[in-house]
Amino acid sequence: MKPAAENIMKFLWINQMEDYQRFLKEILIDEKQIHQRNAELGKLISQDYKNSNDLLLICILRGAFIFLSDLSRQITIPHAMDFMAISSYGSGSRSSSGVVRINMDLTTNINGKDVLIVEDIIDSGNTLSYVLEMLSTRKPTSLNVCTLLDKFERREVNIPIRYTGFRIPDKFVFGYGLDLDEMYRNLPFIGVVDLERYKS
Ligand code: IMP
Ligand code: MG
Repeated sequence: MKPAAENIMKFLWINQMEDYQRFLKEILIDEKQIHQRNAELGKLISQDYKNSNDLLLICILRGAFIFLSDLSRQITIPHAMDFMAISSYGSGSRSSSGVVRINMDLTTNINGKDVLIVEDIIDSGNTLSYVLEMLSTRKPTSLNVCTLLDKFERREVNIPIRYTGFRIPDKFVFGYGLDLDEMYRNLPFIGVVDLERYKS
């Protein structure tokens, strides 16, 4: 790359990286805390599934992709992975109604497998309730949920959660896979959005 182009790229990159500072209210969970919790969850899952020879992690795209990649590397027993892309529609981009669409289905047949769904955040519970119901019709041996974040105060439908990273208050968060209008998934921490300062 020519030096001028390189400088422009660098400038754009720095601007993109710093621009979230304007509406970052607080860092709720930092990189170190996330890493430590992933290690604990990985240990628990490895222990609980040690007698299973068919563990399948299902990542709910897009929000859970970073969590899945870190968590799976803390799991010490053999396992497979598959991906499913879901979108849910609600009154706005900050809530969901339970009207769920599968944009990309699994390629694995989950019949007879120990399925562990890996999700970024459970809010109303509507999205996961739909996913659980649909996957259970495919007759896995077991079906459990591991969520990084649990916004428990907002729950509308009861979801059986086997593993939780962190229970968090009712605040809109971003980073570590979670998006703010599709951006900022790459941030290494989970931050709270100052919605007053953030204009979409
Ligand atoms: P639910 O159906 O209300 O449980 O919503 C779950 C989905 O909404 C998650 O998979 C996220 O994609 C999204 N979501 C809910 N709360 C937040 C948040 O605070 N930040 C980013 N995405 C969120
Ligand atoms: Mg989202």
